[in-house]
Amino acid sequence: MSSARAATNPLYGPNKLKLGLFGLNVDNACAISSVDGTFHPEWPVVKRITQMADKAGLEALVPVARWRGFGGKTNFNGANFETYTWAAGIGGATDNIGVFSTSHVPVIHPIVAAKQATTIDHITGGRFALNVVCGWFEPEMEMFGASIMPHDERYEYAAEWLDVVKRLWTSEEEFDFEGKYFQIKRGFHQPKPVQRPFPPVMNAGGSGIGRHFAAKYCDMIFVHIKGDQIEAARKDVAEVRELARKEYGRDIQVWANAYLVIGDTDEEALKFRDYYVNEKGDWEAVDNLVRSLGIQTGVLPKEMLEAAKYHFIAGWGGYPLVGTARRIASELEKLSGAGLDGILLSSARYEEGLTRFISEVLPLMEQAGLRGSRA
Ligand SMILES: Cc1cc2nc3c(=O)[nH]c(=O)nc-3n(C[C@H](O)[C@H](O)[C@H](O)COP(=O)(O)O)c2cc1C
Repeated sequence: MSSARAATNPLYGPNKLKLGLFGLNVDNACAISSVDGTFHPEWPVVKRITQMADKAGLEALVPVARWRGFGGKTNFNGANFETYTWAAGIGGATDNIGVFSTSHVPVIHPIVAAKQATTIDHITGGRFALNVVCGWFEPEMEMFGASIMPHDERYEYAAEWLDVVKRLWTSEEEFDFEGKYFQIKRGFHQPKPVQRPFPPVMNAGGSGIGRHFAAKYCDMIFVHIKGDQIEAARKDVAEVRELARKEYGRDIQVWANAYLVIGDTDEEALKFRDYYVNEKGDWEAVDNLVRSLGIQTGVLPKEMLEAAKYHFIAGWGGYPLVGTARRIASELEKLSGAGLDGILLSSARYEEGLTRFISEVLPLMEQAGLRGSRA
């Protein structure tokens, strides 16, 4: 059983602006807040929300690779499900949506990763995709007994790791591999994945070297939109596409992540965001998080640092989709106009947010021609 990606994976479907959900395997998902109604990783809840997204025709479910939390009152993300087994379970529980695993390359051997990915690709009938991450949160990488690699070397390691995975996915012959990090004797991998040449690969590197890695080896990349600066985003999207095309002769999808707060009025939505960030936010956890990311006073002026923390609490620093359904649909239209192929969403009150998004925002996106009718 094999097919081209477009035949089975909705990431290559016809919708102009594709949609995914982020973080449905980690405690509190993307909101660093103890507000009631946040997501907790309990399987019936995971199943219910992901099946809702599946029925609504969304394209992607992307888990977060995380091994320990960020402390504070919530120990943000501390309780979490492992991403390959999560993807296998979700794959079996859904029919159409694309299912990702997110893989920290330093903690899993590429032969094991390739095999798990292939297995999920078969479980889902060709709906699998892989998010490759290098690891940046030192305490979780150190848990594995090794110190974290210097930043740029992480991508050199990831390139070799991915090279081995792709060889396993595609080579019909056994092969030897002599690399700097991996030595493979008589590499063998059967069956091959359903998707040919292999399942889509995503990387969300934001640094220069991360971008080159994604442009050269991956099929999907992320840009970070600062604040609500659509014009800067447009330029950024164009630059990434050009990098992939000109330097590597490749066409890749460009996505961004965003968080949803839907209200009956814009004021109500803004007020609720202020409430779950300022009153219910876990400011200790976000301090630990930004310190791990190397964002602190001295790196950023105090005001910018506080704004960054606010948006991390609100939704992992994503683009704010806050207001009425109409406002959110019009923001999504602007993001599509800026050249983005897809948006990865999260919501503080995930189940409630997604329910409203499906019933109120999706029809407006269909009217605007961003997505086809689900009838
Ligand atoms: C949408 C998105 C998903 C990501 N998922 C993870 C993840 O699950 N685990 C992780 O450790 N890092 C994750 N990252 C971090 C990136 O892989 C990357 O390390 C980060 O954007 C910094 O870029 P750099 O590595 O080029 O410096 C994610 C980033 C984005 C934007």
